Amino acid sequence: MKGLILCAGRGTRLHPFSYSQPKTLLPVANHPVLHSCIRKLCEVGVHDIGIVIHPSQVQIPPLIGDGSQFGASITFIEQKVPLGIAHAVQLAQPFLQDHPFILLLGDNLLMDSLHGLTRAFVKDKPDGVVLLSEVDRPQDYGIAEIKDGRLVGVEEKPKHPKSNLAVVGAYLLTKPIFASIATLKPSARGEYEITDAIQSMIDRGYRISHAMTNGKYTDVGTIERWLEANRWMLASELGDRCQVGSTSVLENCQMTGPVLIGEGCVIKNCKLGPYVSIQDGVRLENCAQIENSIFLENSFLRDISWKVKDSVFGRSSILETEKSADSHGVFIVSDKSSIRIPANRKERL
Ligand code: G1P
Repeated sequence: MKGLILCAGRGTRLHPFSYSQPKTLLPVANHPVLHSCIRKLCEVGVHDIGIVIHPSQVQIPPLIGDGSQFGASITFIEQKVPLGIAHAVQLAQPFLQDHPFILLLGDNLLMDSLHGLTRAFVKDKPDGVVLLSEVDRPQDYGIAEIKDGRLVGVEEKPKHPKSNLAVVGAYLLTKPIFASIATLKPSARGEYEITDAIQSMIDRGYRISHAMTNGKYTDVGTIERWLEANRWMLASELGDRCQVGSTSVLENCQMTGPVLIGEGCVIKNCKLGPYVSIQDGVRLENCAQIENSIFLENSFLRDISWKVKDSVFGRSSILETEKSADSHGVFIVSDKSSIRIPANRKERL
């Protein structure tokens, strides 16, 4: 079995952070989401993995290399125009050949393993398996219709959803998917939808099984969901512990876990946590309280007497205040920006 991870999406909802790096490289608990996808595949014995990227995503190949750091072998495949998931799968056909394959969307974070998918494939010998999860807003997803325990239909972002069971970004597919993709027309959003290709397989008499995931799942597609994924991952990896890189220096800090601090950070007179992740080279000085926030590499915060929460600080960004203010703040600070906030202002930047 092979693996295919899609990374070529534009990530517009994660601007400004996805301007400088592909969204699949944005860190969740200090690790790119893409690493988690590769690890999930390796966990179920899938080591021959294709990664679909846009030619502009030049940061991905050097970071992943040939895959040996994960025990995998990686082949990069280019998708020059983002025409949808099914289009990316079609482009990967020369790599996938006739093998069954697990398709993962590179911005989807699953806490569960992929064993549910592979077990359903071995047990029922279907022509495909989709992973389903209950969601609150079914109209935002590909939605499954189940009758008598069997998957009878899937519909992309339906106005009147037939269930609250979303097809999450993990699929196990086989060769007939390519003939189905070849019949597709672009959807209303101008993409070749994998949901339509799977529906076409069902219509042509192929059997698609489903597996449920009860573990948490999110597509790290917006800043809110990124912060949510970060909380889950920190809680799952650290519980309520704090982990500090061996080359980081902390002075007079109070921490409530989970808090994750990378290497080469200097943190003085700060109250941190819970749910704070800090990448390498970050400097924090005199910050009254920071919770539920992500600090990207080399960001710098000073003299913040407000409670900072639900915030993301871009790479090499600088934020300082002029004077104490009795307030709280949500900050979305772009990479490399330098901001000085006058007293008594609440900002979303
Ligand atoms: C895509 C799929 C959709 C699926 C979702 C999972 O949607 O088209 O069927 O439920 O991923 O995250 P998109 O993220 O492209 O809107």
